[in-house]
Amino acid sequence: MTELLTPADIPYAAELLRAGKLVAFGTETVYGLGADAANPQAVAAIFEAKGRPHFNPLICHYASVEDVFAHVTAPGVAMVLAARFWPGPLTLVLPRRPGCPVAQLAGAGLATLAVRIPSHPIALALIEAAQSPVAAPSANRSGRISPTTAAHVRSQLGGRIAAILDSGPCRVGVESTVLDLSGPSPVLLRPGGISVEALESAIGPIGRQIVPQEAEASRTLRSPGLLLSHYAPLLPLRMNATATEPDEALLAFGPAPPAVLSFQLSVSENLAEAASRLFEGLHWLDANAPAKNLRWIAAMPIPAMGLGLAINDRLARAAAPRA
Ligand code: TXA
Ligand code: MG
Repeated sequence: MTELLTPADIPYAAELLRAGKLVAFGTETVYGLGADAANPQAVAAIFEAKGRPHFNPLICHYASVEDVFAHVTAPGVAMVLAARFWPGPLTLVLPRRPGCPVAQLAGAGLATLAVRIPSHPIALALIEAAQSPVAAPSANRSGRISPTTAAHVRSQLGGRIAAILDSGPCRVGVESTVLDLSGPSPVLLRPGGISVEALESAIGPIGRQIVPQEAEASRTLRSPGLLLSHYAPLLPLRMNATATEPDEALLAFGPAPPAVLSFQLSVSENLAEAASRLFEGLHWLDANAPAKNLRWIAAMPIPAMGLGLAINDRLARAAAPRA
């Protein structure tokens, strides 16, 4: 049985976390599947509930900058970014400090840890009440679309986790930007809710990790979660569509061609609105296309700037060949 909790139940949800149970909760980006990051059994249960084939490292969520930098080292550039973008959808990868109590499994045994302070008030209240960092990947089954509502979480993980804390729909709608600060210069590992332009205006040029086109190359990736086919709807997807075939549903962005079934991301071509509706749209098309005998999703072109970089990244993963 998975309990459905409301914000009034935050103290109880925190008690569940302290008891080593899994609690899904909303953040400003997507819903996370939370466990006490310092409890190795609880962290292991996250991988089990998600059906994650590998021990991908998880993001540790904190409620204050002091708590973060007690666990990881803080180069100057991290301080600048923390002051400017936390709480918010930015994850920093930094070297663990000696004695850091976060379970090794949460960082997949790496010498670094991914850390962030979410800006959602319910997430912050939960982490504070738990009195421990909360390890949380997106609260979806492995390889599926990230959830942006409590209902999405229940349909994927209902029965597998202790509770879902309904925190309303997620405002940003795509995952956090992941930036590696553990090397000599900053490297973007995953585009996300904070645009690269915004980061570069704070700290100057950022290196890009090249995402290899072949699954074979995924073994060498620095961030295992960057496997190509990672954010997949059930239906296959093609990008940059300007018209639909008879067996296609449309993921529209702005003025759209005719389609049997379509989901509009933003009629005014607003990238923030489109990001916030992206996973909602993929879930909705997955749920409604089969009844109309549609077998594909055709996604319209989206400019690769600002949040459009993260949207195109998620669409490219959804379009990638399935393993
Ligand atoms: O918005 C988000 O980031 C959401 C919410 C719940 O906070 N979380 C999320 O977690 O998207 P997840 O596990 O789905 O993605 C975490 C990403 C993965 O690509 C993982 O490989 C990378 O962060 N990552 C985590 N720790 C890392 C590390 N030590 N070094 C490099 N990459 C790391
Ligand atoms: Mg994920």
